[in-house]
Parts: sequence; C-alpha cells; structure tokens
Amino acid sequence: MIICVGAGPGDIGYLTQRGAELIRNADVVAGFDAVLDVVRSLIPSAAEVVTMGYRDQVDKLAHVALAHHAGKHCVVVFMGDIHFSGFQYLERVERACGHEVETLPGISSAQILASRAKVCFDETSFITFHRRGDLEPFKRHLVHVLQDERNAIVIPRPWDAARSFMPRHIAAYLVANGVSPEHPTEVWENLTRDEAEWHGTLAECVDREFTDMSIMLIRARQPMSSQIEPAAGK
Ligand SMILES: C[S@@+](CC[C@H](N)C(=O)[O-])C[C@H]1O[C@@H](n2cnc3c(N)ncnc32)[C@H](O)[C@@H]1O
Repeated sequence: MIICVGAGPGDIGYLTQRGAELIRNADVVAGFDAVLDVVRSLIPSAAEVVTMGYRDQVDKLAHVALAHHAGKHCVVVFMGDIHFSGFQYLERVERACGHEVETLPGISSAQILASRAKVCFDETSFITFHRRGDLEPFKRHLVHVLQDERNAIVIPRPWDAARSFMPRHIAAYLVANGVSPEHPTEVWENLTRDEAEWHGTLAECVDREFTDMSIMLIRARQPMSSQIEPAAGK
C-alpha cells in the first residue's frame, strides 16, 4: 500500500489527523529532507526513512515502489498540499509504482497566505512556476488572470540564477507585458514558521529579493466582490 500525504506548510500543527495516523502506522516514510523534517517526530522508530533530493529521487522512489509491491505500508510526504505545485513529483511516484496512487490533501502555503492576507479563493487563480519545462504558457496565463481582474497566488521558481523566476522577475515580466505596475502585491515567507511579509506594488517588487520559501499575492486592482451591488434584501 502506498499513499502520498500533504505535510502542510511547515509547522506540524497544520498536518491533518489522518496524515499523522498514516505516518504513525507506516513501514516506510519517504520524501525530501526538509519535508520529512516536518513529520520526523511521528515516524515510528522501526520504520525505514527514505530521504531524497532532486538528483536521486527517481532511484529512491524506485526503492519505495519495491517496498510497496512487497506489501509494506509506504507514505510519501509532500510539502503543503499535493494538488498545488506537487503534481510533477506525484507523477514520478506513480511512474515508479506503475499505477496511480492515492493522495491525502494537506494544507497548502496558498491556503495560509489566503488566510493571512484575507483573499477569497473564488476570485483568485493559482499559478506555480516551481516546475520543470516551459514556463511561457504559465506566464501568459498569469497576464490574463490579472487582465481579468482576478487575484493571483503565485509560487516562484527558486532554482539557479539562470533558471530562477522569483518575485522580482515575475513583477518585471508582468510590467513589461502590459500589466499595471500599480497592482497591490504581497510576498510572504516561511508561513507558519519564521514568517515575514512584504507589501507594496508590482513596480516596487521589481527591486526586492526574497528567500526560496516565499509565495506571492498579486491583487486585482478592482476586486470582483466590490463590483457587485447587493440586491435589496440579500
Ligand atoms: C514545490 S512547491 C510546493 C508547494 C506546496 N505543494 C504547497 O501546497 O504549499 C514549493 C514552494 O512552495 C512555496 N512554499 C511552500 N511552503 C511555504 C511556506 N510555508 N511559506 C512560503 N512559501 C512556501 C515556496 O515557494 C516553495 O519553494
């Protein structure tokens, strides 16, 4: 049996009870080091812990898949929620296993950001640049989201200098592509742990540096909810 479990945004207090139960009963617990650190206190002493990094993840997941096919209870732990910016890793787990695997959602950094910054999901689009492959369709989509007066919650790409697409690159790209530099913009770092927040405009974001563990909110200039007059009696 194998299941992918969202560990939440970093503080173990945000892990679901079901996620904790699965980890406590696991024979094998696998994931990236920083994510395993979140749940380390719950891993049974008899369980095998499989840590991995970007370079060896395919080999390590093959090892976990073997344990799964041998009948062990395996849990692969993901950062935040699997269903936001986690699917490329999920696809690697499924490729290793040779079939689809079950997922247990976790609380995403996007949900904590929405709570801190008071943003309504209904009026917000979610875009991640933390992915392999061509970013261009996602960049264009972000321009359209803002042109449609929706908010955007954006995960940047913190890789090496040549490939990173951090808040300052995102802001510069948007302004260069016709998005108003006046959009209210926030960047939140290390949510649920050592939190930091920055508030400004897209134009001001162009010069700012943030750590890898950051998530960005670009607000619509005219929130959708403010464009609707309530009907009498509603
Ligand atoms: C591969 S994505 C995974 C996102 C995760 N699935 C989620 O739902 O939050 C990793 C990126 O998410 C963002 N992130 C994750 N946790 C965060 C937190 N606690 N505070 C701020 N940003 C976070 C950072 O940009 C980080 O590099």
